[in-house]
Order: sequence, then structure tokens, then C-alpha cells
Amino acid sequence: MPEQSETPALRIRTALPADEETLAAVDRLTWSPLHAVMPRPQPPYDPFFDERHVPDDYLVAELDGRVVGYLRLALPTSLACNAHVRQIQGLAVLEEARGRGVARALLRVAVEETRRQGARRLTLRVLGHNAPARRLYESEGFVVEGVLPEEFLLDGKYVDDVFMGRPV
Ligand SMILES: CC(C)(COP(=O)(O)OP(=O)(O)OC[C@H]1O[C@@H](n2cnc3c(N)ncnc32)[C@H](O)[C@@H]1OP(=O)(O)O)[C@@H](O)C(=O)NCCC(=O)NCCS
Repeated sequence: MPEQSETPALRIRTALPADEETLAAVDRLTWSPLHAVMPRPQPPYDPFFDERHVPDDYLVAELDGRVVGYLRLALPTSLACNAHVRQIQGLAVLEEARGRGVARALLRVAVEETRRQGARRLTLRVLGHNAPARRLYESEGFVVEGVLPEEFLLDGKYVDDVFMGRPV
């Protein structure tokens, strides 16, 4: 009898143009006021990829061959004096695939990719009430570098915008 692996195969790869519909679906399915500052997407939906959101900036997570999450790694600005920094501008994992290390794997590849691109810092913004994401980032070496108190009013509650970063 062939040996069965208990660990599902997790693969992280760069996105392709053909991932557009799947990633758009992941984005819609994972929307929540815990992390989103934009209102819940409504049809007709904006395209997932455009001139500023290109497949090359996305890491895709596949579990047993199925796309279950993504991370967007981008330049914080187009300024030459800011080119040594990369920023995580989106991270989402489908609910049914959570708690299995998918986001941690995406983050680790993002750190490697930041290094490979010659940048020296990786930053991100997270809502103050997003405890799962904050715990994940802290456990991967990110520290809080600034807080905009009560920056957003979401679902009737004021929520902090928390800036985190780490060297790579
Ligand atoms: C946050 C999110 C990406 C985590 O994805 P995930 O694949 O389930 O995360 P992992 O399995 O890699 O978990 C890694 C660590 O994150 C933390 N974590 C994840 N889910 C958690 C939860 N529900 N409660 C507390 N900590 C949690 C833990 O530290 C965990 O480590 P552990 O398993 O050793 O305890 C996922 O919950 C998600 O897509 N949330 C909605 C979108 C979002 O908030 N994105 C971040 C925007 S800044």
C-alpha cells in the first residue's frame, strides 16, 4: 500500500494572469470588517489585476493543488528614496484552510522575496482589532512601529491603524 502523507502539500508560487478569477473569489470570500477598510465588494466587481496590481506582485498559496490564499508584496511608494522597503498590501487565506500554517508560509516567502529583491525592510498595516493577524506578524518578527489611534470607523467602532515592520 502506498505511504500516505499526513501533511497536505503546501506550495507558494508567484501569481499568473490566469489566477485572476480565483484570487478575486478568495478576496470576496474572505472579506470581513476585521481586516477590510473597503466596504464589502458588490457586483459588478472591479478587476483583481490592473496596471497597479500586477500578477508578479502576488504570492499564491496552493494546498493540495487548490488556491487557498494570497499575499501582495509591493513597493510602498514609487519614490526612488523609498525603494529599499517592501510592503505587504494584502494577505488572505480561505476560512476552510486556516490554522494550517498557510499565512505563515506566505509571510516567510515574502521575507525571502524582499531580500532577493535587494530591499532591507518589510512593513505592513494591520487593524488594531485583528488579533489573529497581529499574533501571526509578531511571531514572525514584526514589531509595532506606529499607531494611528481610532483611524477608521468600522461597524460603528473606532479602530486603530497599526504600522508594523521588520528588517529582512
Ligand atoms: C490572518 C490570516 C491570514 C491567518 O491565516 P492562517 O493561514 O490561518 O494562519 P496560520 O495558520 O499560518 O497561523 C499562523 C499564526 O497566526 C496566528 N493565528 C492565526 N489564526 C489565529 C486565530 N484565529 N487566533 C489567534 N491567532 C491566530 C497564530 O499565531 C498562528 O500560529 P500558531 O498556529 O502556531 O498558533 C487569516 O485568518 C485571514 O485570512 N484572515 C482574514 C484576512 C486578514 O485578516 N488578513 C490580514 C490583513 S493585515
